[in-house]
Amino acid sequence: MDSKIEPRVGTAFDREMMQRCLTLARRALGRTAPNPLVGAVVVQDGKIVGEGFHPGAGQPHAEVFALKAAGDRAQGATVYVSLEPCNHYGRTPPCTEALIAAGVAKVVVGMVDPNPLVAGGGVARLRSAGIEVVVGVEEADCRQLNEGFIHRMVYQRPFGIFKYAMTLDGKIATTSGHSAWITNPAAREEVQQLRIACDAIIVGGNTVRIDNPRLTIRQIDAPNPLRVVMSRTLDLPTTAHLWQTETVSTLVMTQAGANPDMQMLLRDRGVEILELDSLTPTAAMAHLYQRGCLSVLWECGGTLAAEAIAQGTVQKIFAFIAPKIIGGSTAPTPVGDLGFTQMTQAITLERVQWRTVGSDCLMEGYLPSRESGVGSRESGDKGDKGEES
Ligand SMILES: NC(=O)c1ccc[n+]([C@@H]2O[C@H](COP(=O)([O-])OP(=O)(O)OC[C@H]3O[C@@H](n4cnc5c(N)ncnc54)[C@H](OP(=O)(O)O)[C@@H]3O)[C@@H](O)[C@H]2O)c1
Ligand SMILES: [Zn+2]
Repeated sequence: MDSKIEPRVGTAFDREMMQRCLTLARRALGRTAPNPLVGAVVVQDGKIVGEGFHPGAGQPHAEVFALKAAGDRAQGATVYVSLEPCNHYGRTPPCTEALIAAGVAKVVVGMVDPNPLVAGGGVARLRSAGIEVVVGVEEADCRQLNEGFIHRMVYQRPFGIFKYAMTLDGKIATTSGHSAWITNPAAREEVQQLRIACDAIIVGGNTVRIDNPRLTIRQIDAPNPLRVVMSRTLDLPTTAHLWQTETVSTLVMTQAGANPDMQMLLRDRGVEILELDSLTPTAAMAHLYQRGCLSVLWECGGTLAAEAIAQGTVQKIFAFIAPKIIGGSTAPTPVGDLGFTQMTQAITLERVQWRTVGSDCLMEGYLPSRESGVGSRESGDKGDKGEES
């Protein structure tokens, strides 16, 4: 056997059941912050007898729903759960105790708790009660689904995703700023799904002035992320789609004391205003962390994107590339000035995947971890030390 290929944990049936857990977990996409997405399945005699997922903060955990659905059939059963069962009293009693009380024989866990302070505690508690525990089934997929939650836990910051659409010649708009539409409808639908999975979307003042975006979710019953505008000047239009806040909230972050008249006008329209001493991507993300965000989508132009990348607030890139050429030596590009002069300074993405979406190409990749010191420029602090509830 090739030693480089990691052996897969569990049987084919175990993996199938864990994938079912992930499918269930995804039903709450965009609704669980600050909690993770979790799914659970109870299996008795090779058949699913109970299923559940965590619908959102303050509600019971996935295991509780699955055990309830299984009832007496949980006795001696195998429970599959995508994240290690909790072992502490939070807003709900620990799931480890519920599993023990139900008399389950075996628990199969996708991944351990990402909080280093409690990781492994749930597994240890189950084992001490005589329950067989298997850990790491479909772990890569489990981690991928909760990458926002994991990042939040480990770094006390939301996970930043920078999404942009550009032409084949690297432009995100024409020289006049026109950018509707670079991509095809299938790609724009893909953006809708990406938005649903995020808790907030950030744009810069220029994008509001030039594009007047809505940043809403068209799908009925899907959650809308918080819409965030970063503007130092508050030199913003008096009417804009983002100021319609009846169904979706908008937060404008600005510098302390900026444009009091505009602040008043926006507050009248139901827009929340946050004045920061220094309006930086780091400060914006620290605030969104405090609000409980797991994943934040940067949908800004190149000026703000460059700052966001330089400050280490972007972890992942979604780049749509359309087979169109627009030209224009002053047409805006996805990322403004990073201060690099040598190709050797380039930030090289990792775990890159390419696929086509209709006639466009989508590249997904991760920036090297800032903590590893690669491709990063330290700037600002490491965020705050907010506690998870
Ligand atoms: N194709 C795409 O995917 C896509 C996506 C978004 C935008 N666009 C295009 O991009 C163009 C706008 O790009 P842009 O780069 O000028 O706009 P941008 O990055 O969205 O906005 C820049 C603005 O962000 C605000 N800002 C607040 N804090 C900042 C900070 N710390 N650093 C930098 N900026 C900060 C400032 O607003 P104030 O001036 O109000 O203070 C600044 O002028 C438009 O033509 C739009 O169509 C394309
Ligand atoms: Zn729990």
